[in-house]
Amino acid sequence: MRTKIVAGNWKMNCDLSETKLLLEGLAGNVEAKENKKVIVAPPYTNLHYAFESLKDSPIAVAAQNINENESGAHTGEISAKMLKGVGVEYVIIGHSERRSIYNETDATLAAKTNQAIAEGFQVIFCVGEELESRKAEKHFDVVKSQLKNGLFQLNENEMENVVIAYEPVWAIGTGETASPEQAQEMHAYIRQLLADKYETSTAENTSILYGGSVKPNNAEEIFSKPDVDGGLIGGASLKAEDFLAIVNSH
Ligand code: G3H
Repeated sequence: MRTKIVAGNWKMNCDLSETKLLLEGLAGNVEAKENKKVIVAPPYTNLHYAFESLKDSPIAVAAQNINENESGAHTGEISAKMLKGVGVEYVIIGHSERRSIYNETDATLAAKTNQAIAEGFQVIFCVGEELESRKAEKHFDVVKSQLKNGLFQLNENEMENVVIAYEPVWAIGTGETASPEQAQEMHAYIRQLLADKYETSTAENTSILYGGSVKPNNAEEIFSKPDVDGGLIGGASLKAEDFLAIVNSH
């Protein structure tokens, strides 16, 4: 059975005092459930604090990025080993903001993914098309190419540690969500690509999350679709009340 996941990507929000408040609102309010996972991804500076304060809760901690190199002269970057050392279990790779603002290419993302998997992390690998591509009906091609060139170098066993997040760029932070039908259509397509490349069991067992303006009032409908296994939540993960409502709608 696939794991249902709700992950909060805090992006570049929350200093330490805001992090303390937000985590106080979450820890203790999330129950451990079989086949359900709740994850938070605070900024780097608060990962250690998050891990320590969530130790007694079922909430796991993710980093929003990782460097593809082991160590060395990479000023400003953070390695896998450093993330391991502060209790990080998951790493988000290929978020559209990393792709578009920081010019991360498929090749870079493949290298980051390989590094994260080799170091024993669970990877949340993001894909998604921009509005232009959707309008030109190229969205399936875009997502296929992102998966083929950034993720599908992994072997069958390595894929056990991968979660895919479909985030149409036009729905991120815009208040405009993909319709549940659009999400389902793309998720089913991604699952078919997995089945074409890997064993059927891998396709069946890989959790595929939807991201893009998920809120308490639309989460349940989106999550009800058969190939939508949860969400990667941005804005609504910054308020404990909203994030918990989304977690509980699943
Ligand atoms: O990683 C999260 C996504 O970018 C979604 O962000 O929920 O603010 O639209 P959003």
